[in-house]
Amino acid sequence: MRLSVIGCGYLGAVHAAAMASIGHEVVGIDVDERKIESLSKGLAPFFEPGLQEILQEGIASGRLTFTTDLAAAAGAKVHFVGVGTPQVKDGYAADLTYVNAAVDGLLPYLSPGDLVAGKSTVPVGTAARLAESVTPTGATLVWNPEFLREGFAVQDTVDPDRLVAGVPSTSSGAVSDEGARAADILREVYHPSVAKNTPFIVTDYATAELVKVSANAFLATKISFINAMAEIAEVTGADVTQLADAIGHDARIGRRFLGAGIGFGGGCLPKDIRAFSARAEELGRGESVNFLREVDAINLRRRDRAVDLVVAALDGVVFEKKVAVLGAAFKPHSDDIRDSPALDVAVRLKGLGADVVVTDPAAIENARRIHPQLTYNEDLDATLKDADAVIVVTEWDEWRRELAPEHAASLVKATIVVDGRNCLDAAAWRAAGWTYYGMGRP
Ligand code: UGA
Repeated sequence: MRLSVIGCGYLGAVHAAAMASIGHEVVGIDVDERKIESLSKGLAPFFEPGLQEILQEGIASGRLTFTTDLAAAAGAKVHFVGVGTPQVKDGYAADLTYVNAAVDGLLPYLSPGDLVAGKSTVPVGTAARLAESVTPTGATLVWNPEFLREGFAVQDTVDPDRLVAGVPSTSSGAVSDEGARAADILREVYHPSVAKNTPFIVTDYATAELVKVSANAFLATKISFINAMAEIAEVTGADVTQLADAIGHDARIGRRFLGAGIGFGGGCLPKDIRAFSARAEELGRGESVNFLREVDAINLRRRDRAVDLVVAALDGVVFEKKVAVLGAAFKPHSDDIRDSPALDVAVRLKGLGADVVVTDPAAIENARRIHPQLTYNEDLDATLKDADAVIVVTEWDEWRRELAPEHAASLVKATIVVDGRNCLDAAAWRAAGWTYYGMGRP
């Protein structure tokens, strides 16, 4: 099928390449000339395992092209809209400028029977509004949220755990004939997943929009829940990692996303819970999601806690002390530093006068652009050399598994380590002579 993908950021670039990899003819469109130039050469503009390979395969096959010209969307059967919805500068709400512009820009190129498939994360009610401008062209608007995780984006797109299609409904809320036809076209698009019986859930617009934001709100809540338990553990001497293991054995709870530490960041969870709160307020239901403010507050407090641990470990004086910061990306297997708790901790330590040196296997270039005031070193040993304290803020395997605590001890000035992700083997580090501080652990 011929497809267009409007917006070639994280979501769009991966979606375009993944759709080409399952046999579709895809044109990716973005206003950013540099991004398009890079993608056209088969170079992924960000670090995402497996993306480069499917980009190059798609381009070599002739099925995948990129352009800045929106007119190239003409002739595609399905037009995916995957542009960003960042947090507005002066509040919590989502900025819909790019979504509105993408849909408006597409209108002249739509043919009757086409689908416009929104993938961006939007406040509930957006699809119904956008449908008012799409419907007169004879095309159908659907909302098809995306659940990919950075670091696993290709796998999550090619083989998702569920597909959701928000389609036009009748006044009684049932799927309309137009909606049923639209869902069938999406089934054709995602044919490999449909063939393997991946759940394909057809809903109305509002439900599809809410599925996306509520999934992220739930995940954020789960992380802040365990971080709240970490705060209690800290004043009682309990160990939050053992607690998480124990409650995680209950299948109704589950162990995943119960990793206590410096909390969540990235381009999705933080802004999505804020946009959800803002939208709920607009709908007169602010109190229903008031807890998300608390989820946000707990999350941000964990960054303070990590900084406090370093300061306390250095007897209250960090001025001109060398602190080796291991990590900059908001999570491993990513070079994304958007709202990164890791960098936030580094910046705060620097603000206290510490001589901060940051290392990261993938994110240094991005970090340097946004925080040029920090010192970076690509070499882990050089970063550790003569450090007065070490803090782990992103759980890369480079130090989680591969760094021997004895070797690290031979490099630093003082064997103090703060494990901001509870990812090191505390017993092994202690046995190697380190004073180990975890998050929510004795
Ligand atoms: C998140 C969701 O997991 C995806 O399902 C969703 O599609 C995506 O947002 C999106 O809306 O586009 P992502 O931002 O890639 O994906 O990252 P996550 O894996 O969810 O991690 C988010 C943050 O939570 C990271 O900073 C991570 O370190 C932190 N985290 C995660 C914890 O602090 N503890 C945990 O136990 C798990």
